Formats: sequence, C-alpha cells, structure tokens
Amino acid sequence: MQTHEIIRRFTDHFTSAGHTRVPSASLILDDPTLLFVNAGMVQFKPYFLGDAPAPYPRATSIQKCVRTGDIDEVGRTTRHNTFFQMAGNFSFGDYFKAGAIEHAWELVTGSSGYGIDPERLWATVYRNDDEAFDLWRRHLPESRIQRRGGKDNYWDMGVPGPGGPCSEIYFDRGPAHGRDGGPEADEDRYLEIWNLVFMQDVRGELSPKDEHPPIGTLPKKNIDTGMGVERVATLLQDVENVYETDLVRPVIARAEEFSGRRYGASVQDDVRFRVIADHARSGVMIIGDGVTPSNEGRGYVLRRLLRRIVRSARLLGVQEPVLNSFAEVVRDAMAPSYPELRNDFERIAAVIRNEEEAFLQTLTAGSRIFDTAAATVRESGRTQLPGDQAFKLHDTFGFPIDLTLEMASEAGLTVDEQGFRTLMAEQRDRAKADAKAHKAGHSDGTAYRAVLDAAGGTEFLGYTDLAGESRVVGLIVDGVGVPAAGAGTAVEVVLDRTPFYAEGGGQQADTGWIRGDGFTVEVGDVQSPVTGLVVHRGTVTDGEITIDAPVHAEVDVTRRQAVSRAHSATHLVHAGMRRALGDSAAQAGSLNAPGRLRFDFTSPAGAVPASVLADVEDEINDVLTGDHEVRAFVTTQDEARRIGAMALFGEKYGDSVRVVEIGDYSRELCGGTHVHRSGQLGLVKLLSEASIGAGVRRVEALVGLDAFRFLAKEHVLVSQLAEQFKAKPEELPERIGGVVERLRIAERELEKVRAGAVLSSAGALADEAEDIGGTALVAAAVPDGIGGNDLRALASDVRGRLGARPGVVALFSTDAGKLSFVVATTSSARDAGLAAGTLVPSFAAAVGGRGGGKPDLAQGGGTDPSGVPAAI
Ligand code: SER
Repeated sequence: MQTHEIIRRFTDHFTSAGHTRVPSASLILDDPTLLFVNAGMVQFKPYFLGDAPAPYPRATSIQKCVRTGDIDEVGRTTRHNTFFQMAGNFSFGDYFKAGAIEHAWELVTGSSGYGIDPERLWATVYRNDDEAFDLWRRHLPESRIQRRGGKDNYWDMGVPGPGGPCSEIYFDRGPAHGRDGGPEADEDRYLEIWNLVFMQDVRGELSPKDEHPPIGTLPKKNIDTGMGVERVATLLQDVENVYETDLVRPVIARAEEFSGRRYGASVQDDVRFRVIADHARSGVMIIGDGVTPSNEGRGYVLRRLLRRIVRSARLLGVQEPVLNSFAEVVRDAMAPSYPELRNDFERIAAVIRNEEEAFLQTLTAGSRIFDTAAATVRESGRTQLPGDQAFKLHDTFGFPIDLTLEMASEAGLTVDEQGFRTLMAEQRDRAKADAKAHKAGHSDGTAYRAVLDAAGGTEFLGYTDLAGESRVVGLIVDGVGVPAAGAGTAVEVVLDRTPFYAEGGGQQADTGWIRGDGFTVEVGDVQSPVTGLVVHRGTVTDGEITIDAPVHAEVDVTRRQAVSRAHSATHLVHAGMRRALGDSAAQAGSLNAPGRLRFDFTSPAGAVPASVLADVEDEINDVLTGDHEVRAFVTTQDEARRIGAMALFGEKYGDSVRVVEIGDYSRELCGGTHVHRSGQLGLVKLLSEASIGAGVRRVEALVGLDAFRFLAKEHVLVSQLAEQFKAKPEELPERIGGVVERLRIAERELEKVRAGAVLSSAGALADEAEDIGGTALVAAAVPDGIGGNDLRALASDVRGRLGARPGVVALFSTDAGKLSFVVATTSSARDAGLAAGTLVPSFAAAVGGRGGGKPDLAQGGGTDPSGVPAAI
C-alpha cells in the first residue's frame, strides 16, 4: 500500500468518525519551546491546556514533523529519521481511552484500513493503567499486553505542558528480526507503529517521569495519538526499513544514478545514501516552511542537514552540485500531500543552490587549511594530524570529522580522533550550559499559568483603544506570584483587559503607564509568554500596586503611532517587493520600531537592483498619497488563502486568522497594529538593501517624520556641498568625480617627485659611507614613506656608487607606520663573507622585525621603528 493511500485511509477513517480534518501546521510554530514541530499535537496545545476553546471536539491531521536531536545517528541506524509524518486523531474532552483504542484497532486491522493480522500485534500500557489493560483484553491475549514504566509509556512534550500515560501498538516482524518477548525485549523486532496518549496531566518538572509526578490536571480528559506513517508504510510495503518505502527510496535511486554506486552493496555507502535520503526530505520541508540556512537556531540545523548531503554525495564520489536534483525528487514524492512544495519550488531551489555554492567554496577554503596543516605535520616528521586542527576544520569550516579523516587518509596521515572528540565534548558542554542559562531566564511559566488558570486570558483592547480601565489580576516578582509590589520593584503586571500590544510578529511592544489609586507602574516591555496572557513588565515608580486594584492603563501614544506606521509600511514594502520580484520574495523576518523598519525576504536572484528599489519606493509613496483605507478583519484560513493574503500559512494556532488590507495594494495575515489610512504614513524612504545570509536580503526604511527628517538632513548636506564646490546639486557627482580624479593624478605626480628626490640622495648617502675595517658601511634611516621598491632601488644605487670596495648598505624607512629595511652587499663584500641575508638577523631583533633574502640583497620589516638607531 502506497504512502498516499495510507494517509488517505487514515483521514477517511477518522473523518467518517466525526473528526474535523485539520491541515498540517507549519514546521515552524510560534512556540518558543520548540525548534520544530515534532508531533501532531503541537498545534492543538492551547486546546489541551484550556488556553483556548477547541473549535471542534474531534480532529484528525497528518502532521509533518522534524526531530533533530540525533542528526549524527541518521543513516547509521535505520531507525533514526529527522523528517517523518505523524498521522493523528485528537479528542478535546470528547472520547477517552476506550474510544482511542477502538478507533485505532479498527483502522489497523479492518479491511478498509490496513488489514494487519491481529496475531502480529502487541500493545503496551503504562504500569498501573488497568483501565487501558482491560480495554486491550477485548482484542489481545494478556500475554501480548505489556506494562511499562514512564520512560516508554508516559508522554509529554519534553518541556512543561500537557502530558499523560500512553499506550502503544507494536507489530511483530517475526523471529528473523530479533528476540522473542515483546516490545519490552526487542524494539527492532517489535516495531512501534502508533502511540495513543491519554492527555490528562500538566507537567512541570520534567524527566525522569516516574519520579516527578504531574503538577496538575488538565481541565478535560483528551486524546492525542500519533501513528508513524513511514513505519506503517514499511510494514505494508513489506520492506526492510523506512528508507526503502515508496516516498523515500526515489531519493536514494537518484543518488545511485549520480554516483554509479548501488544501495545495498556496501555498509559504508549505505549510510551515505540514507543520510542523503533523510536530509533531503527534511531540508526541503524546512525550507518550504520559510527557514533559510544560517549559523544559529533552525537555520543552523538546516545548514547542517544540507551540508551533510553534499558531503555524503562527495563520499559517494559525486563532485557536481546535487542538492537541487535531490530536492526535485522530494518535491515530486511529497507534493501530492503538500502542493505548496510545487508552487514554491523556485524559492526552495534558490535557497538550496545558494547554500550548496557557499558550502562548495567552504570546502575549497577548508581544503587549503587542511593541506597546510598536513604539510606541517609531514615536515615535522609526524604522521598524525593534531586534534585541535581537526576541531578547527570542524568548527570554522563546518568540516565533518569523517571528511577530515578521509582527507587525512588520502594524504597518508591519521587524525588524533581522541583529541578531537575531547574538544567537541568541551564545546558541547559549553553549549549545554548556555542553553540552561537561557532556559532559566524564561521562567518555566508556572506563575503565568497560575494567573491564567485563576483569571482567564487578557482581553486585548489595543486595536481600537490606547487607554482603558481595567483591573490587576496578577502580579509577579522574580517569577513568583505576589499580592502587592511597592515602589522601586521590578514587577510583571497582568490585567483583565489591556490596550498594550505585546511584542510579536516583528512589532515592538508598547510602553506606557498603569496608574491606580496612589500608585504608578512605568511599563517598559510587554510580552505574551503564555498564549492568551499579556504581561506588562515595568517598575513601580510610586505607591504600591495590589491585586484586584482598578487601574487606568495608558499606552505611550506617540510611540505606538510611530510603530504602527512602521508596521503598515512593512506591509507595503512586502507587497511592493512581491510585485517587483515575484512570489519568491517571501518575508523572512521583520522589525517594526518607532519610525523605522527592517524587512527581510528571500531573494533567489541576489541583490535587488537600485532601479527596482527606486520603483518600489515610488510605488509605495503613490499608495500613501492615494490615502487608502486600512482594514482589518478576522476570517478562516481557507478564506484568507482564497483571497490571496500573504503569509506562511499554518504559522499561527487555530483556524481563524486576522487579515490586514491596505486598499487593494496589500493583503496580509497579521496580528499587529496599523494606521487607519495609508496617508498617515506621510512618507516612506528606503535606506539600504543588503545581504544578511545565503539568499536572504534586508531592506531598511524610515517612515513618517523620521523619513522626512532624514531627507531634510541630506538636503542640508547637499546644499553645503553645492556651496563648497560651487556647483548645482545635480552637477555634484561629476564635479566631485573630477576633483577626486585630479587629486589622484596630483598625488601620483607628487609621489614620483618624492621618489626622484629620494633616489637622488644616493650620491650623498654613498659619500657618507663609514669605513669599518676596510669595509664601507652605509647604514641610514631615509625619509618616511619610501616603499619597498623605491627602498630597494635606492639601496642598489648606493651600492653601485661604492665601486669595487667591499661595502654594505642598510637602509630603513617607515611607511604608514610599518618599518621596512633593505640590506645590499657589494660582490667584494660577499667574497669576504658578508652576505645580506645573514646580516639581517644581527639587527632584526632591535626593530622587532624579521626578514631575509639572498647574499646580495635582503629585506624585511619590523614593528618597532624606535629601534632603528640601535639597529644602525
Ligand atoms: N504526541 C504523541 C507522540 O508524539 C502522540 O501523538 O508520540
């Protein structure tokens, strides 16, 4: 059964059982606790926690998932995958254990489902979950139901949040695959295909799960299940592992074509084939959801994935660029489920191409470093490349150790792997410590959650109101809920309703004041650390703020308006860029600050020509003068898509989305605040456009008065220049160009004159030769600024004038702070054993320098011009 059919049957099974079909969320969800979405339940987290009401009692989805904890293991085993699809059914306070088990059993064994022989199935339950055990007894003998501990049969997200005991379904692949004894004995023979989680707990402290009981219960009992689509495909297609299933194998086939080698012929090559197949899938899917390669976070994971593909292909003997070809295979395999891969492929391919080109350059540069290091090792008569060199290649050039090992072996060397691993471990420890420190800064959210549970979420008034009356429902100091906070305290204030906008979607937070009877809090930052809750961070400037106090919350209007102008301008820039460059100019990030903005976007074609920028700017300002209405409305994701709103769909939780329209010019999903009419922006001035990473560009712009002031300042500057150069502004470029050119010519002339003067001093220098035991010595500091060539010419000239006597000339000169020297000897001096090259060390130390050369002429440089007299 093909993978797409497995997916279809899953979806049909659950939709006919009353589940709402929900599309896969983006791999990049707005959840700071996760790098990538790694389970089907992630997009439903607020419904489980009760932060938001579930719009449906039952749902089903096929979720794209990325788990990158063990990239290095991929390929070495056949179990690790960074990309997979999780088919799930979810109940939000609707059915519970019995429903979940019955639904799963029917699909797995039923003839319109997967028709798996019940005799091959096993189940596991959490150690004391008698209820689940008894439910399984209806289908399975007791001997095929195992009880397991929290490590295997309790599931949570790995971060504080919802969790619960779970029950897993296993398929027995038969004695050829391992030992008897069920999943408890051998998880290779008994393959887990489905995890049914009975979501009922709130997890605070994490693992080990058995020792840390949950800190609370969820408002309702829920179901979250996850079936491994690729694993089921492995079984139903009767192949050895996921790499051989219908959607993965074609990538390997392409790699076979490229390399001329065969999958299955060598253990080592097979690892490489599998790395390519796995990483190509995750790489394409991650880029599809808007990530671009970079050196941190998600971008770094992506970079590693792509580079490992290129590297693996090299190890298979392929030299030419390969990534795009693999990406095409992935697109064709996955597009039936994810049509956006086809529509967006131009952009995906461009990101990939840029990264591959950059990495191939890195390979070239790193290879040079490697060659130098190898040469040094050989010269010193050793045969082992030190661990720190291997580490440097890894750290600075992204060389995986196997690359270094292979290059070393080609060069007849070994590598101090132990030393390398020690350095790697040290680096990992540092990274872990950093991560821990980072987590500590973001408190575990318990205090926020407590406020949310007690008081419900915060109502946001700020789309329409900039001030309003509300009530204090939570006060947090140093991560702990408090009843009151006095003057001077740094406090986090939660109100039942607020006009303050919490930082999000690239828009900076509002600032302002919360005032009550006898107290004021100055608000400097506003965040939403838990969905639905707005937290005002500030300082109590006088009096004492208390829980329940009525307050007047007031946003700093000037700042908010300037930020809103910037945000509306960002939408216009985005729309303008798309119109000018096509849909591949997708937003990759943005910042909306008072009066200024930054807009990052993908640009496969590289730099945007100045003329295009000028046109975009012109068009945007035309939209401003049109004074179009800015409208915001809430609609469904489907409708937003239909009317062509720009967004990375699936980025936000839930089905309803807010759309912001500026006339007919721009239509975009957005939760931010905006002006009412485009005319309020006044003026938008694009300042710069530059690269900020492979295939990603950034434009910066000023808006409103800030744009006007910038232009006014430039105008004054131009007027001053015009005055100074006695030219009209439009003549300035030519005039200044002319002046610069004349200056250059004059400088060259001056240089010649100076050199002539210096050279003409040769006679005088020769005349001053000192006689030292029959050898003429001219040792002198010549005027500064005589460069290497001139200094050599002068030394030769002086030497020529010494005639046939034994003579030594040593001249010193400082040029741009750097000391140079030249030593020249006459042939009779050389006959007497005075070689220029060996004279240099006798004085080099005095000027902090070094150098050398031939017997007749040597030169060098120094760092300490004050040592010249001593050297002489
Ligand atoms: N959340 C569970 C898992 O990831 C079941 O979907 O295994």
